[in-house]
Amino acid sequence: EKDGYPHFMLKEIHEQPTALRNTLKDRIEGDRVNLDYLNLSPEYLKGLRNISIVACGTAYHAGLIGKELIEGLLRIPVEVSVASEFRYRNPLVDEKTLVIVVSQSGETADTLAALRESKRRGAKVLAITNVKGSSVAREADFMFHTVAGPEIAVASTKAYTTQLLGFYLITLYFGQLLGKEMPKELYSGLKELPVLAEKVINETEKRIESLIKPFEGWGDCFFIGRSLDWHVAEEGALKLKEISYIHAEAYAAGELKHGTLALIEKDIPVIALATQLEVYEKTISNIKEVKAREGYVIALVQEGDTETAKSVDQVLEIPKVPSLLTPILTVLPLQLISYYVAVARGCDVDKPRNLAKSVTVE
Ligand code: F6R
Repeated sequence: EKDGYPHFMLKEIHEQPTALRNTLKDRIEGDRVNLDYLNLSPEYLKGLRNISIVACGTAYHAGLIGKELIEGLLRIPVEVSVASEFRYRNPLVDEKTLVIVVSQSGETADTLAALRESKRRGAKVLAITNVKGSSVAREADFMFHTVAGPEIAVASTKAYTTQLLGFYLITLYFGQLLGKEMPKELYSGLKELPVLAEKVINETEKRIESLIKPFEGWGDCFFIGRSLDWHVAEEGALKLKEISYIHAEAYAAGELKHGTLALIEKDIPVIALATQLEVYEKTISNIKEVKAREGYVIALVQEGDTETAKSVDQVLEIPKVPSLLTPILTVLPLQLISYYVAVARGCDVDKPRNLAKSVTVE
């Protein structure tokens, strides 16, 4: 059932192009996203005061990107909460709020409780979930199914990238309903992602030995980036922590000098994402701050960037896409690096210590 792969996690990483293709299928036609089955009226959307995204772990990280997309393209205020906080916090949720819950399994106890609390307060709930018959799917008012197929490895990979895809499709669809002009390049860009994802996975694997070498002997490392890159960095750090047991922290690159830079020492591994063109120069100057303390920097950049290579130890390129679409591609090398680092350390990759696939208790 692992299809010849040594672990489910590696199999699931490789299934991402297919998972993306299946999640896109029939939902995008030319310059239009079709989620008409949701039965959401433009009047309902126009009446919303805010959107609240609630999830745990990796699904929460998908929500962080969702917020940037929705606020950036729709200009509706969005709050993102981890479900275990949301439910005990008297959140700003009522009938003028759309709550989006994100859950691979659809059974996470805190997420389900947040869904119920939201409904009790009069909000409608849109679920982004991978399991059609799950509790979350059944209790939500609207459901977006991520067609990732069963995810067995504890560490989430293909669920995350299809959750991200869900947020792109939902945002564009809401934009259409609200009569807003949506950037045309996003529609064609989304359709290309499955092929580009395959390319990134292959390119990364070819170079994996040199990419994991810097982690040898280290118990700490950092992931940095700005804007969307920062949120992907957070997912990269979680992935590495949970399966390799290396302590990893993600930072908004501009925050480093407010404390964390004190931890940068000679050869400590730092993965720097520098794909957001709007903040590119700023990110490069943060990378130079790390290099000045002799950290070992692996940078992820967009194709054609020859500048970053001059300041770092290794560069990995992702194909050129609009800045908004990079997360689905940049997370792939981070997943692979985590996986291969964990294997090299002899960890039980599919079943990391202390963790369960589905957290059905509080
Ligand atoms: C990390 C991971 C977890 C889950 C979290 C939520 O790799 O898999 O952080 O994302 O437990 O699970 P779901 O999405 O099933 O609600």
